[in-house]
Amino acid sequence: MKKVAIIQYMEHASLDTIKASFDQQMENLGYKDGENVEYIFKNAQGDNNIAASITQTFQSEDADVVVAIATPVAQSVASLSKTTPIVFAAVIDPIGAKLTTSLEHPDKNITGTSDEIQVDLILDRALQLQLDLKTLGVIYNNGEANSVTNIQKAKDYAKTHHLTIKEATITNVNEVQSAIDVLANQCDAVFAPNDNTVASAMNVVSHACIEAKVPLYVGADSMVQEGGFLSVGINYEDLGKETANMVDQVLNGTPVSDIPVKVFKDDLNVYVNEDVMNELDMTLPETLLQDKALKLM
Ligand code: TRP
Repeated sequence: MKKVAIIQYMEHASLDTIKASFDQQMENLGYKDGENVEYIFKNAQGDNNIAASITQTFQSEDADVVVAIATPVAQSVASLSKTTPIVFAAVIDPIGAKLTTSLEHPDKNITGTSDEIQVDLILDRALQLQLDLKTLGVIYNNGEANSVTNIQKAKDYAKTHHLTIKEATITNVNEVQSAIDVLANQCDAVFAPNDNTVASAMNVVSHACIEAKVPLYVGADSMVQEGGFLSVGINYEDLGKETANMVDQVLNGTPVSDIPVKVFKDDLNVYVNEDVMNELDMTLPETLLQDKALKLM
């Protein structure tokens, strides 16, 4: 009987998709809950203190592998890697988050899947659709290492494209409403990266941006589904499935150092929320409409 301890940072559509697809692939690989595998599953509810206490309980579980879904919990359970291999799911920047020093040769008994987001491609679309775009608002939780990485990319992009950035930082979900209410009225467009806290409050962010008639560019398909205007990104079902494949390798005895981090950055789709587009009176150029990568949601 193998023991797999899983920690998920919080519930939001994308993390839930990853978990469901992970579960499905484990089953496809022959793991049957209660027969040849025991799962322990914990949700940290977006709270680093809860993540820390879950990490502590995992210490005494003596699991064969620990799985961490999203950056903040991967960082939390990293301390367990002295004794237990760790496989993370959807960590934007594993090196920046200090989970490994090499993607090719993981050196800390930690590997997994990365959803490195292509901030340039998202902002290229923004400039293509809004020729008069000058001030770009960004909203993110500055306690999420994944977002700090992406906002730095947005700042670098802004420098070379004559954009001014206005920042709204939050520390938890309760601050989203007031932050976005102010921000949306100060800019021509808003960019919300692949930030867990913002993703869990998309209804609020979306509503404020539509009210202010400001297009909201986002870091994931699920955030478009839930009211963002446009994103360029990956398919998270594939990522969840690949995370299960890596767990299978670990359970079969492959050393973590022989399992490179798998970065998802190819086969990107352009996701557009049609209802939001209509609310904003926006239209898409013919080239994009003909593009096979376009997914209207
Ligand atoms: N990449 C995020 C992280 O590193 C987790 C994540 C996966 C996410 N899908 C998302 C965040 C969608 C926001 C929206 O923590």
